[in-house]
Amino acid sequence: KRLIVGIDIGGTGTKLGLVDSLGEVIIEEKISTTGEHTFAEFITTLSKIVKQWLLAYPDYEIAGVGVGAPGGNFYTGCITDASNLPWKGSLPLVELLTAELNVPVVLSNDANAATMGEMIFGAAKGMKDFVMITLGTGLGSGIVTGGRLLIGAESLAAELGHVLIKGKGGGRACKCGRKGCLETYVSATGIKRTYLHLLASQGEQSRLSAVPFDQLEAKDIAQAALDGDEIAKKAFVTTGKILGRQLANMVSIVNPEAVFLFGGLASAGDLIFEPTKKYMDANMLNIYKAEVKILPSQLEGANAAIVGAASLVYQYEQDSKEVL
Ligand code: BGC
Ligand code: NA
Ligand code: ZN
Repeated sequence: KRLIVGIDIGGTGTKLGLVDSLGEVIIEEKISTTGEHTFAEFITTLSKIVKQWLLAYPDYEIAGVGVGAPGGNFYTGCITDASNLPWKGSLPLVELLTAELNVPVVLSNDANAATMGEMIFGAAKGMKDFVMITLGTGLGSGIVTGGRLLIGAESLAAELGHVLIKGKGGGRACKCGRKGCLETYVSATGIKRTYLHLLASQGEQSRLSAVPFDQLEAKDIAQAALDGDEIAKKAFVTTGKILGRQLANMVSIVNPEAVFLFGGLASAGDLIFEPTKKYMDANMLNIYKAEVKILPSQLEGANAAIVGAASLVYQYEQDSKEVL
C-alpha cells in the first residue's frame, strides 16, 4: 500500500515513476529538462504529475520522494552547479518539493542514487563493498564501503568522472573547466571522441565516417564494432583500457568485492566488459587475492534510474529507524 516516487533528473530529460516495495515501477512519465521553463515551473510540473497519481491510486500512500540529479546535494537539498542542466546556481529542490507534496524528499547525486538502487534492488544485494560506474553523457560513480554509501564532507565523494588521467595539464577539455578528466575518455561522449580521434589519425575508412558528431551515438559505434569495423573495435578497447586502469586504482582505495557498470555504454556488453576486466586485472596490485568481479548492473533498463532514486527513500527510512 506504500509507494515511493522516484525522480531522475538528467540533462535532456527527467523521468519519474511510482515504485513499490519490490522495486517495480507501477506508472511512469517523462518530461523534458529544457531551459524554456524556470526551475520553479519545472517543480510545479513534477508536483502536478505526482498529485494526479495520488488521485489515480487512492488506496496507496506516498511514503516519500527520492530524487537523483547531477549536482544533487544530500546535505543541502539543493542541486548545485550541474553543468548539464539548464538552470544555474543553487536550486532548492527539497524545499520546493516538500512544500508541494508534504512528504519526506531525499536528494542525491544521480550516480549515488543508482548505487543505492543496485544495493537495495539489484545485483549488489548483500554486498558490503562495491563500486558503481554509470556510463552516460558523463561518468558517474558511487562507492559503498562497509555497507554504507560514501557521501563525503560536502556530499561530493566519488566524483570519479573528474579524476585526471593525463599529466602536465593536458588531455581533452572537460565541461568542468579542466582538461584530462576520465569522463572525457570514458563515457558515451568520450568514446565518440576517441572514435573520431582514431578515425582522423589512422586514415582508415569506417562506415560511420560520414556521420556528424552530434548525430553519432555510442550505440552506433557498438553496432559497427560488432559488424567488424576495426576503428570501432579499437575505440572500445581504448575505452576499456583507460577504465580498467582506473578501476585498478580504485581497487587500491576501496578494495571492493565487485564493480558494476551501469548505463548506455555498459549495454555494449563484452565490447566494453572484456577490455575493462583485462586491463583492471593486469594493473591491479598483486596483494589482492580475491578476484574483483566486473558485472553489469541489474537495474539496467528504462526504469533503472527511477528505481535508484526511489531507493534513496528506503535508505532514509532505514536510517531514521536506526536513529530511533
Ligand atoms: C558529474 C557527476 C554525475 C555524472 C553523471 C559527472 O559529470 O560530475 O556528478 O554523477 O556526471 O551524470
Ligand atoms: Na557519485
Ligand atoms: Zn572534468
